[in-house]
Amino acid sequence: MKTALDPLLAKRADFPILSTCTYLVSNSLGAMPAGVRERVAEFADDWATQGVVAWEKWLPLVTQVGDVVARIINAPAGSITMLQNVSIAESVIISCLDFSGTRNKVVYSDLNFPTVHYNWMAQRARGAEICLVKSDGVTIDTQAMCDAIDERTLAVPISHVIFKSAYIQDAAAIIEKAHRVGALVILDAYQSAGTVPIDALGWNVDVVVGGGVKWLCGGPGAAYLYVRSDLLQRLTPTVVGWFGQRRPFDFSMEPDLADDIWRYAGGTPNPAALYAALTGYSMIADLGVSAIRARSMGLTAHAVARAQEAGLRVNSPLDPARRGGHVTVDFKGAEAACAELIRRKFIVDFRPGAGIRIGPHFYNTIEEVDAVIAEIVAIRDGG
Ligand SMILES: Cc1ncc(COP(=O)(O)O)c(C=O)c1O
Repeated sequence: MKTALDPLLAKRADFPILSTCTYLVSNSLGAMPAGVRERVAEFADDWATQGVVAWEKWLPLVTQVGDVVARIINAPAGSITMLQNVSIAESVIISCLDFSGTRNKVVYSDLNFPTVHYNWMAQRARGAEICLVKSDGVTIDTQAMCDAIDERTLAVPISHVIFKSAYIQDAAAIIEKAHRVGALVILDAYQSAGTVPIDALGWNVDVVVGGGVKWLCGGPGAAYLYVRSDLLQRLTPTVVGWFGQRRPFDFSMEPDLADDIWRYAGGTPNPAALYAALTGYSMIADLGVSAIRARSMGLTAHAVARAQEAGLRVNSPLDPARRGGHVTVDFKGAEAACAELIRRKFIVDFRPGAGIRIGPHFYNTIEEVDAVIAEIVAIRDGG
């Protein structure tokens, strides 16, 4: 598998951290591509040498980076804006909704990422009724999700891939049911974009949010928000800013929201983060998520097989088709073992109630997966 002909493994040399440790935590922080250093330096140089004139280059970056994300999630060019993080992106969409009527129900599972849950829970003060569908801790029953979505449901803010277990929700089925009863689906693609294919157009999803920290190798501060074109003007945010106006540089005291995706853009964008994100996002878009997925499935299948042989509890789906980019394994003392693994330069992470997450990306090898499982077993057996 490790040949110069493999275009994915050929990229290994672009990630400096891979030669310093066994880096298997792209479910948390994707490795930094070497090119990021030059892009961030370019930002600093622009600022130092051009001053305010640099905005002529910085502002178009929002659309430029958004268009790269669009290639990754199969969305049209011009349909994505960039924000600080998913919490903000989710808040902007929430601010479009009215919970005061009888259609005030919000449906998602108890495995959603907490920041998203906190945002929706906060809407109870505005009349939202939160319906948490109970999981088994690893997977979510699609039928139970669909049954919970009814004529009173306003929004279905789901995680595509579950951050603890890597379970892939059946987004297409949930979207189909939600649309049948007139509910809006907000898909959190943070744990899928870049490692599991997303078909924003094909699934007809209403809204997609996600960020660059994990599988997109883009670093913090470059989250994205996609809104389906026919919804752009039907959704009116009340969390707004001057860059969301049709003519921000008129500095008018009369609010006049843009008709396009910029209406959700809020205040001043963050060009440094966008520069940093461009290298990783472009690499993922160019390599193609289907190729990455094929490799990822091989690596996670190997991790599952080795973990099972070693008697570790696998808290991720065993069905490769329902398993995202990482594998979660648990055993007594797993949290302390995780700290020891990191000390030994096997970089993974631990999530309470789930276990140690092993997140190989396209740049990792089978040998690295073998090595981390062997080290886990050595630590476990060594007490
Ligand atoms: C599924 C998911 N959503 C959201 C987040 C983070 O949200 P934010 O960008 O607001 O920090 C994470 C992880 O950090 C995540 O795994």
